[in-house]
Amino acid sequence: MRRNYARAPWKATHVELHRLASIARKRYVQATHLHANLRIEEDVDVGPGFRLWMPEDGTLVIGRGTELRHHIYIEIYGDGEVRIGAGSHLTYYTHIACSTSITIGERCGIGLSSLVVDGGHTFRDIAKTWMDQPYKLRPITIGDDVAIHSQCTIINDVGHHSVIGANSVVTRPIPPYCLAVGAPARVIEYFGPPEERSPDVPPDVPATWGVIV
Ligand SMILES: CC(C)(COP(=O)(O)OP(=O)(O)OC[C@H]1O[C@@H](n2cnc3c(N)ncnc32)[C@H](O)[C@@H]1OP(=O)(O)O)[C@@H](O)C(=O)NCCC(=O)NCCS
Repeated sequence: MRRNYARAPWKATHVELHRLASIARKRYVQATHLHANLRIEEDVDVGPGFRLWMPEDGTLVIGRGTELRHHIYIEIYGDGEVRIGAGSHLTYYTHIACSTSITIGERCGIGLSSLVVDGGHTFRDIAKTWMDQPYKLRPITIGDDVAIHSQCTIINDVGHHSVIGANSVVTRPIPPYCLAVGAPARVIEYFGPPEERSPDVPPDVPATWGVIV
């Protein structure tokens, strides 16, 4: 009983006040993006520091129950589209920058300080500074049930159920059910069902189907 009482200030601030602040942030984002296509579904937790930069006719859809924990920043340029599936968790300082489309599946997790971006500046025309050179863009799809760990940069697709190790840079598509690590990220393990192994998983990558550790 005493312990419950002692927990009351924590609950009032970290649960109840947090919930009210999340609703206020969601309303603020909705009220200031009437010009764009914005859908934030039920039970989305819009945490402190959430920032949306969508000056034009972009689309943002955030699925039910998704958590935008702390300082999540989403930039959408032109008619770019970002879709985040239900039940996903973007943790701390995740940055999504999109000019074409970025789709994140359901139940995905993105760790601290990670970037998902659909392109960047080209740079090989030495007559111009890199900033004046056009973007090279590529839509990005991250499948369902993907875990992207801390401090990753994602500039290509990640197949469903795959796991990207901390500090990785995904420059080439990662097939489903793969563990990939490094910069550039390379597949080091295939843990899916044998019959679903993509031919894009290199033959020397070990399979660990059925090994639960
Ligand atoms: C470095 C970069 C500009 C090179 O682009 P590119 O000329 O199109 O090069 P490619 O994609 O053809 O990659 C060439 C090789 O370098 C690797 N590579 C590319 N970027 C890499 C990176 N950041 N770290 C490690 N390896 C990288 C690729 O995997 C490829 O090797 P591989 O064929 O053995 O897989 C690009 O990959 C990059 O890092 N872009 C940054 C995107 C970004 O941060 N945008 C937001 C700011 S606007």
